[in-house]
Amino acid sequence: MLADNLKTLLGSTFVLYTKTHGFHWNIEGSDFPQYHKFLQEMYEEIYESIDTIAEYIRSLDSYSPGSLARMLELSIIEEQYKIPRAELMLAELLEDVGKMTSLVTDIFDVATKDRAQGIANYLAELQDLYTKKAWMLRSILKSQRA
Ligand SMILES: [Fe+2]
Repeated sequence: MLADNLKTLLGSTFVLYTKTHGFHWNIEGSDFPQYHKFLQEMYEEIYESIDTIAEYIRSLDSYSPGSLARMLELSIIEEQYKIPRAELMLAELLEDVGKMTSLVTDIFDVATKDRAQGIANYLAELQDLYTKKAWMLRSILKSQRA
């Protein structure tokens, strides 16, 4: 059901937002200014999508989860309790945005089948967002190995 899929997306987005914001605070290294700024842009973009996803759930006449415990329960993204080294933070985010891309791509198919064009449209935008973040994270990690 599309609303249930969007709840999974909402929980996953919430957890990824929190993780990215935490990494923005705690990342360290000689490239700190760039990392700090890159992660801020990323958590802001992810944060913006939270309200839109929640309101789409409401438009489908379902209630949006509003508790952190419920977000965690729904999320396909795992939390990070530790403070990994910079490269490990970025590698973890690369893996997470890959999961987000697969998730929004799967839900896009459900939305299209349900002929929910506006939601499908928005999911296509999110696919674009996460595909671009994956490219940027891959590029940052490549310079790390040089
Ligand atoms: Fe900040």
